[in-house]
Amino acid sequence: MQDKLEVCIKDWAELADEYKELELRHKEYRETLDKCLALQKKCVSGVTHQKYRLGVIKKLVKDVENGDSVTKEEIGEVADLNKDLLRRTAQLGQMQEVLPRKSGRYLRGILGNVDCSILDKNEKYQYKEQYEQFKLIVNLIGGILATTNYFLNYRVLDLIFMFLIVWYYCTLTIRESILIVNGSRIKGWWRTHHFVSCVVGGVLLVWPDGDAYREFRDQHMLFNVYVAFLQYLQYVYQKGCLYRLRSLGERQDMDITIDGFHSWMWKGLGFLLPFLYIGYFTQLYNSYTLYQLMYTHEVTWQVPVLSLLFLILGVGNITTTSMTIPNKLKDSKMGMLKYRFTRLDKYFWSHRKRRDSVSKDIDETGSQTSDEPEVAHDVVEDGEELKKDL
Ligand code: COA
Repeated sequence: MQDKLEVCIKDWAELADEYKELELRHKEYRETLDKCLALQKKCVSGVTHQKYRLGVIKKLVKDVENGDSVTKEEIGEVADLNKDLLRRTAQLGQMQEVLPRKSGRYLRGILGNVDCSILDKNEKYQYKEQYEQFKLIVNLIGGILATTNYFLNYRVLDLIFMFLIVWYYCTLTIRESILIVNGSRIKGWWRTHHFVSCVVGGVLLVWPDGDAYREFRDQHMLFNVYVAFLQYLQYVYQKGCLYRLRSLGERQDMDITIDGFHSWMWKGLGFLLPFLYIGYFTQLYNSYTLYQLMYTHEVTWQVPVLSLLFLILGVGNITTTSMTIPNKLKDSKMGMLKYRFTRLDKYFWSHRKRRDSVSKDIDETGSQTSDEPEVAHDVVEDGEELKKDL
């Protein structure tokens, strides 16, 4: 007994020494954390300030562009300034990637005032990957359930399927809001699409069984099987994009270049788009079938509402997807991806010398400083790097 007690006391003394060390380390951690949080706040307000002033300058530039007596020289200056503004916007975007962002109203309404920012780049990619996987898995389950329903015709299974639709789209809207807080560029329509789809699920859930319901049911189940197949295609495309963007961002896999990304993306889109349009025209056809039901059967309010909702979904999807191509062409013309991934601080501009001398002049008057000193060999090195990328 005495021996055991001695061991206990010795262990305790050892542990107490270790605790002292831990206490010191934790104190150091708290101090660093406080410093880090203070720095974070300063950076956030610095970025907000920069963005505000950029907005003001952009407005002024627009006024100059729209002015009557603009000389050739001034047009050149404006074009240079526009490039600078674009680059600075991208630089601020890069800074924001590692700074916390405020959640939107929808997210705060659901989760309360918690910070949903993911500051680690890897974790961000993983979250997006999990989001894509979540969509795929639920859609596969939905596809299997829809196929079973098509053949079995059980009301309870139908209701379970409708409930799955409501739950799935509700969850998607929350996950997407978190993605947006973390810098994702999901277009507003896709979020609206998911809110509307959630309402569609709710209306289907309360649509009472009857002749009209039975007439539409089979068509709807087949449509859902097709949606599951579409989701699989979208998953392959999005996963491919994510993998390539990740490699570009990390610059580890040098076999992937911006050119490589673009050619893969256009190929992927070319394959995906016809299937997407088939889905959209089926949505319009769903709307038309429901509309016809109003004249052939005695229907409840769910039928016109669903007809309208499917029409909104079809038209919205066709419009947004059709806009994707011109938008992407515009982005690649402006080199948006290049701005996202190159070492922006060292980017070489042909008008640099001219603008540097202007800022030096301003410097001498003491009102503004040039914030981008450049070393000759950096310029050469980056010029080479960009040539490789583009
Ligand atoms: N749902 C959620 N997020 C979407 C999305 C969608 N339908 N479409 C695009 N995004 C995301 C992208 O992943 C990307 O995210 P990131 O900024 O985190 O990298 C961002 O929005 C910008 O995407 P963008 O570059 O505009 O388009 P894309 O090349 O990624 O995808 C399409 C283009 C057309 C393939 C894609 O929008 C799509 O699959 N749309 C069809 C969806 C649909 O119709 N569903 C219903 C079927 S009935």
